[in-house]
Amino acid sequence: MITAKTIEETRKAVREARAAGKEIGFVPTMGALHEGHLSLVSIAKKHADFIVMSIFVNRIQFNDPKDFDKYPRDFDKDLSLAEKAGVDMVFLPDETVMYNNPLTFVDTSSLDRYLCGASRPGHFRGVCTVVTKLFNIVQPDTAVFGQKDIQQVRIVEKMAEDLNIPVSIIIAPIRRENDGLAMSSRNIHLSNEQRKQALCLSESLQTAKKLIEKGETSTAAIIREVEAEIKKGSPDSIDYISIVSYETLEPIKTLSTKSVLAAAAFFGSTRLIDNMIITEGDSIQ
Ligand code: PAF
Repeated sequence: MITAKTIEETRKAVREARAAGKEIGFVPTMGALHEGHLSLVSIAKKHADFIVMSIFVNRIQFNDPKDFDKYPRDFDKDLSLAEKAGVDMVFLPDETVMYNNPLTFVDTSSLDRYLCGASRPGHFRGVCTVVTKLFNIVQPDTAVFGQKDIQQVRIVEKMAEDLNIPVSIIIAPIRRENDGLAMSSRNIHLSNEQRKQALCLSESLQTAKKLIEKGETSTAAIIREVEAEIKKGSPDSIDYISIVSYETLEPIKTLSTKSVLAAAAFFGSTRLIDNMIITEGDSIQ
């Protein structure tokens, strides 16, 4: 596996892979790799022959500097996991490589108005900026993003479309622990007690799934049940519970062709998110 710390090395390796007839697959990450990330790699391998992973903790997408400081980092472990998963090259830049007093940023106009965007001002500007830069550096044919960050996926999809970035975006299903907790790099911050409490998020989605399968289409009714279920876990606070259109990420009153139920809650100072995509009211991911 190649470990590239500069843009030049990365571009050279990608050029050579392309010249050898390979399609380029890309998995952007901030490290602290877990099985969820590794599942993105195996999906990328189904679509491409040369897999690039980036590992970069992107300061400008953290609206809270404390959250940036405490973001878990173990690059040696990440490199060994990436290699075992079959990654061909890791792009591991430091901040000076990625940001040299930047004056240009990429923003999204309305897709960040609700959900995580509402409580994390500037977060998606940071994500859009770094993802655009990474796309320009790696120039992948395919990039894989996890459904757990559903708003990020939708924003990146629309950004690639609006800015004519020739990459196809693939959404990888949420990877869960055996008891249902969505895998996240932040889970390591949970105490044993909070880890148990946090199950209320995935359990609330199961409650919603059952209601929807029985024919419920009123989002207010679904949200009411989801909220009651989340409260059973006694989170320190609920950030949001929303049902939005997948297309616009705006709240809807009745389930539409493709909707998203998403929730975020704090367990101690750890903010966890989870979601479910509802298609035509019956196929639920
Ligand atoms: O999902 C993440 O880990 C990050 O938001 C990403 C896409 C790597 C951009 O920093």
